[in-house]
Amino acid sequence: MRKEDNEYLTKVGPGTPMGNLLRRFWMPILLEHEVPGPNEAPVRVRVVGENFLIWRDAQGGIGLFEEYCMHRRVSLSLARCEGDGLRCIFHGWKFDVKGNVLDMPNLRDPNLARKARAPVYPARLGGGLLWVYLGPADKQPDFPSYEFMRQPKDHSYAFRQIWNVNFVQGLESNLDSSHIGILHNDSAFFGERKERATPEMRDVVIWDDDRPTILVKDHPGGFFTTAIRDVDLNGEKLRYARVHNYVMPFGTFVPFPILAQHVPIDDENTMSFGILYGKKPIDAEFCRKIFELPPFLAENVAPRVQRYLGTAENNWCQDRSTMDRSFSGLLNPIAEDMAVFASMGPIPDRGKEAAGGSDAAVSRMRTMLIDAARALERGEEPIMMSGQQSATMGCGEGILGEDERWPELLPQ
Ligand code: FES
Ligand SMILES: [Fe+2]
Repeated sequence: MRKEDNEYLTKVGPGTPMGNLLRRFWMPILLEHEVPGPNEAPVRVRVVGENFLIWRDAQGGIGLFEEYCMHRRVSLSLARCEGDGLRCIFHGWKFDVKGNVLDMPNLRDPNLARKARAPVYPARLGGGLLWVYLGPADKQPDFPSYEFMRQPKDHSYAFRQIWNVNFVQGLESNLDSSHIGILHNDSAFFGERKERATPEMRDVVIWDDDRPTILVKDHPGGFFTTAIRDVDLNGEKLRYARVHNYVMPFGTFVPFPILAQHVPIDDENTMSFGILYGKKPIDAEFCRKIFELPPFLAENVAPRVQRYLGTAENNWCQDRSTMDRSFSGLLNPIAEDMAVFASMGPIPDRGKEAAGGSDAAVSRMRTMLIDAARALERGEEPIMMSGQQSATMGCGEGILGEDERWPELLPQ
C-alpha cells in the first residue's frame, strides 16, 4: 500500500475524504446506560476527531450537540439544562435537541432565533447502543435493523473498549483469521484444546490448521469472508469454515455471534463496541468473564466500558515471566489482539508491510473503504444498506459439504 493511500484510509477528521465517508453511516458512540437521563447534565463524547455532547430533554428526546456554542464557542457542557433545551451560560442562547434555536436573549431581533439552526445531529437508541448520524440531513440512511436490535434486551450483551489505535487496526483484528491459532494459541477463550472437543465446541477445531484458505465474496454493504481449515474431528477428516461478515464502514460480524464495531474517536484512538447476541437470553456473567479485561490490562470507565492500558512503556502489558507457559505472555485473548495492534503504533506504516494471501480479507476491507471514499469525492453516493438488508446480516461457521459452498453457512 502506498503511503498516501494509508493516510487516505486512516485520517478521519472533519473535511477528510474518509471522515466524510464515515459520517454517512449511523455510528454507535455510547452504551445505552451511559446516556444521560431526561434533563440531566450533558455527556461529552469525542468521535471522528470532533467533540460533541449528548443531551436528553425532559421529554426524552436525544440530540448530539457540537460541544462548542455556535455563538462564541463556549463549551455547552457548562450549559443550563432547562427541560426543553440547553442554555449556554455566556450569552444565554438556547438550543433544543432538533437544532432549533429557542432563545437569543442578548439580541434585539426575535426573528433571528427563529431563522437560525444550531449544529445538533440525530441520535437514536437501538440494541443497547446510542447511535448518531453526522452526515448531511438529506442523505440520512435507514437506521440499521440488525438482529440484536430487534430482539428483547436480555438476548444481547454490549460492551465498549477504548483503544489507542486507529480504527482500521481495530477492523483488521476481526478480518485476520490466520492469527487465531497462533497469537491466541494458549487462550481458553475458544474452550479447551481439541483432545477435549465435542461437536458443540466447534470453535475448538480451528486449532487443527494454522494455514486456512481465506476467500472473500462482496455483498452490497461490504463482504463475506471465510477461513477454511482442514480439521480432524474424532478421526474424521473434514473442512471447517468460519464466515465473517464485514459491514461498511467499521463493523464485522464474527461467529459467536458478535458484532464488532470500531468507531474512530480520532485518528489515533478508537472505541470498539462488541455486541454478543443470540436467540435466547444471554448469560451476562459468562460474557463479562470473557470480555472484561482485568485491572492490569484496562481501567474501568463505566460498567462494561474500559480503557486499554497497554503502551510501549509497559510493553503492552506483556509479562515475559509467563512465556514458559503462555505463548504470548499476555494472558488474555482480547489483550493479545489489543497488544499486537497497539504495538504497531497508532497508525502503522502499511507501505512497509509484506502482506500475503492470508491477508486477503484485510486488503479487501482497505480497498473497499478507499474506493468508497474516492467515489464520494467524485460525487458518487456510497451504497447504503436498507434497514431490511441490515436485518439479514450475520455470520456463520460449520463443517462444509463436498461442494464447499461456504455462503450456505450464513443465516438464511
Ligand atoms: S457563547 Fe454561547 S451564547 Fe454566546
Ligand atoms: Fe484475535
